Amino acid sequence: MDPRIDRMSTPRTYRIAPSILSADFAKLGAEVRSVIDAGADWIHFDVMDNHYVPNLTFGPMVCEALRPHAVKADGSRVPIDVHLMVQPVDALAQAFAKAGADLISFHPDASTHVDRTLQLIKAAGCQAGLTFNPAMPIDVLEWVIDKVDLVLLMSVNPGFGGQSFIDSALRKCEKVRRLIESSGRDIRLEVDGGIKVDNIRRVADAGADTFVAGSAIFGQPDYKTVIEAMRAQLA
Ligand code: DX5
Ligand code: ZN
Repeated sequence: MDPRIDRMSTPRTYRIAPSILSADFAKLGAEVRSVIDAGADWIHFDVMDNHYVPNLTFGPMVCEALRPHAVKADGSRVPIDVHLMVQPVDALAQAFAKAGADLISFHPDASTHVDRTLQLIKAAGCQAGLTFNPAMPIDVLEWVIDKVDLVLLMSVNPGFGGQSFIDSALRKCEKVRRLIESSGRDIRLEVDGGIKVDNIRRVADAGADTFVAGSAIFGQPDYKTVIEAMRAQLA
């Protein structure tokens, strides 16, 4: 059987999650509304503390401010997908849960007690995710796969938008897809960094179902055109 068909054994709904790291910070509310009107499924919210990564972005108060804007035209809630590039994790994770985050992912190398951090995110009513940098092994998943709702694979080194896709993320994606399939759990597999119209199909073929794109979307004059071009690649 065509391996790709095999990998697509459980038909997955694809999700496109624009990263607001590349949005116009002078009008973030309007940017969130327009990228949702353009067809975004999630809002990817990159939190950087200038400690775990050499950059500084925004905190729970900005998430709270954007929460009312993260809605579709029919009023339905658009998930805010918080990606914590911070150390330590726990207090900020709880603050983002209170600020209206729907999913909260953290880097396991940034938490002293990964299992406990996953538990506190879920206890706060959010879906919990683990995020792996390009050189990070995924072994920890074996011990917490029952607590994970999302795996976020970095295809760039975290800290900045507009970087080039690191191909080894494809191989890691295939491994994680197999792990998810064998777990029998409904876990989303998100890839983050350097995703464009011309490589998103390869990332999907490697097993991803959720795609972060910052500069590829916010760098374009028309968000709808580029999101539709991404969806056409995924069809
Ligand atoms: C990088 C962030 C990514 C980044 C993606 O540390 O985690 O989400 O914003 O930006 P692009 O799509 O421009 O690589
Ligand atoms: Zn991110």
